[in-house]
Amino acid sequence: MQSLLSTAKFLGRSGTLKNQVFRRIACLAALPETHQMLQKTCRDFADSELVPHAAKHDREHLYPEKQIKKMGELGLMAIAIPEEYGGAGLDYLAYSIAIEEISRGCASAGVIMSVNNSLYLGPINHYGTQQQKENWIVHYTTGEKIGCFALSEPGNGSDAGAASTTAVEKNDRYILNGTKMWITNGFEAGAAVVFATTDKSLKHKGISAFLVPKGISGYTIGKKEDKLGIRASSTCQLIFEDCEIPKENILGKPGYGFKIAMQTLDAGRIGIASQALGIAQASLELAADYAQKRTAFGKPIAKYQTIQQKLADMALRVESARLLTWRSCWLKDNGKSYTKEAAMAKLAASETATYCAHQCIQVLGGMGYVTDMAGERYYRDARITEIYEGTSEIQRLVIAGHVLKELSA
Ligand code: CAA
Repeated sequence: MQSLLSTAKFLGRSGTLKNQVFRRIACLAALPETHQMLQKTCRDFADSELVPHAAKHDREHLYPEKQIKKMGELGLMAIAIPEEYGGAGLDYLAYSIAIEEISRGCASAGVIMSVNNSLYLGPINHYGTQQQKENWIVHYTTGEKIGCFALSEPGNGSDAGAASTTAVEKNDRYILNGTKMWITNGFEAGAAVVFATTDKSLKHKGISAFLVPKGISGYTIGKKEDKLGIRASSTCQLIFEDCEIPKENILGKPGYGFKIAMQTLDAGRIGIASQALGIAQASLELAADYAQKRTAFGKPIAKYQTIQQKLADMALRVESARLLTWRSCWLKDNGKSYTKEAAMAKLAASETATYCAHQCIQVLGGMGYVTDMAGERYYRDARITEIYEGTSEIQRLVIAGHVLKELSA
């Protein structure tokens, strides 16, 4: 099946879709035509293929296998990966727009996509050798296989440099020992980018990144977490016990793993900001729709200023966070530094998602608190965006570090 993304690119270039009207906020009109096309493709896909199943998948903790495969066929599982390795060859703005739309339909599908794109494929595409790209990217672009990123451990989450999983060199191999925790996609992943230290005394400079396939001796999947939200995506422990991998599975230079992790997370934070935007947008749309249909004291509640103020504040926050997110994409796509801006985007968008889901429930009242409507799921899904890929506290730390440097006398 020809990727719809290729079609979108073609149509975008040829200009045949000029004047197409989209029911979207005004700032979308400023997007290039290719991106508008992509946005519509993803929105239609989310409405027809994700929205109808999202509640059941969440309730039953079901991995959305069929949907992820279709997303692979559309090119969504490897958006910014070059076409020569099976990716869609688009930019990070396209990536952000696609994740927002997918997450608006199903935030679990959004994070599965985000982790595969930016945390698994991203570092291999950036640091991998030609051979590694051929071996570890090509099969992970279609949705048939997905990857994961194993950094956090039971004893270290925010303090990523304190990794205690070890990698000991022995002849032509490394032997991994340790436990990774909170690993998104861990249950289904066919391969993992694993961070381990070859010398703890060197602290973060002793950490290296390794490519580890599922199914090899010494690599087992531990506890699958029962979670508040994004329940259709897996979060697992990965356990390494005398797990031997060939030396050629090291990604990048030895001792460079912490930098790889940090740079990967800069890009990953754009993905999570976009996921949060999708949840926030869905909350806003649900609240606006309900407010126009629900009557109280003889008129639709949307006629009351108290409800209008909620909708206005939600829309203001969504559009502000979206602009911050698109700015970080623009910087990344133009080869500029974007660490601070990605942290700002994630911070603003994740707090916006929580805010909008909260207000959505408030507008829906009793219907917001029951599972008949999606508001309560948005609320549960929103919370994780303030935690994974760096908590809001870590984002503030990163931002403050840059601000102090920029403003130092
Ligand atoms: N890009 C490149 N290099 C970077 C960098 C970046 N964004 N940030 C830091 N570095 C470099 C520094 O320049 C420094 O390099 P030198 O040693 O050469 O001087 C080195 O890394 C150490 O920097 P710091 O002293 O600032 O590091 P730190 O130990 O104080 O930590 C931190 C900084 C920002 C708190 C970092 O540890 C961090 O981001 N923590 C949060 C980790 C995180 O997001 N975890 C989530 C895991 S993934 C996940 O959520 C699971 C999932 O599956 C979704």
